[in-house]
Amino acid sequence: MSTAPLPIILDCDPGHDDAIAIVVAARHTEVLGITTVSGNAPLSATTRNAIIMRDLLGMSAPVHAGAEVPLVRPARHAAYVHGKSGMDGADLPEPSGPPASRDAVGFIIDTCRAQEGVWLVPTGPLTNIALALRSAPDLAARIAGISLMGGGTFGNSTAAAEFNILCDPEAADIVFSYGGPLIMAGLDLTHQFQAVPARVEMVRALPGHLAVVLADLLDFFSGTYRSRHHGIGGAAVHDPCAVMALTHPHLFQRKFAHVEVEIHGTRTAGMTVIDQRALREVPEPNCDWLTGIDADAGWQVIVDAITHFSH
Ligand code: BDR
Ligand code: CA
Repeated sequence: MSTAPLPIILDCDPGHDDAIAIVVAARHTEVLGITTVSGNAPLSATTRNAIIMRDLLGMSAPVHAGAEVPLVRPARHAAYVHGKSGMDGADLPEPSGPPASRDAVGFIIDTCRAQEGVWLVPTGPLTNIALALRSAPDLAARIAGISLMGGGTFGNSTAAAEFNILCDPEAADIVFSYGGPLIMAGLDLTHQFQAVPARVEMVRALPGHLAVVLADLLDFFSGTYRSRHHGIGGAAVHDPCAVMALTHPHLFQRKFAHVEVEIHGTRTAGMTVIDQRALREVPEPNCDWLTGIDADAGWQVIVDAITHFSH
């Protein structure tokens, strides 16, 4: 019995690993729309990159531009990882046109009101999702859930905080306390999923232009990771994990935990505080916390998805 692909809205800030997330989503889900947010690069760049990826994959999904700045903090970007464009390292085509709108939040609200059971899949700062939940609280009960990349038991932007959560902790707080199903692909998981040279070569060996573009992007991404870290074989390919958690759940190990976002800490703002106490009195779990991945099988999902579109 074949099951219908899950309807999703992919909310992203491409971003090399967001680009891979778009490929996996295009192959294995029904992408109702791609919404963009300021994050790895300014909004104009992440929107441009999302449109380019949509075009390269021949997708019909609209791209809607969203929040240019976080809820209360100034914008921060990650050119030190992704380059100034957000997707440095490959020869990319010009986008086919402008975004469908500059109202990603309105698009998310309208789409989730028109159709129950949509999964929101954020792979960037959570500004758009928080704005949607805040202005349309009914969405919490209408969506199937939220599967996000962010957080973990350690940080990458500070000792405590992962980049997506640190960019907009106030938005993340709204999302982590929204009350419905929540899946977290944090750094504990995504650092197990690296674009080591042999894996990038699997992509480069595929026929077609898309494979070359993605292999070039992965080479750049892994280059910045290797130059910034001690002892890492390649970039942590974070964002497709939030998609595969829905499409290939058997590849993951998980724990259920209560997770809250620190928004006040002078050293810990943006930390996801995961309650791992074995006490009876701890709050009910609100989060499906992904702790492990079958990395070779996950990489094969990516290779197969690229193969599908690259010829
Ligand atoms: C997250 O931050 C970005 O650099 C990546 O695209 C990913 O979503 C990892 O911390
Ligand atoms: Ca991202």
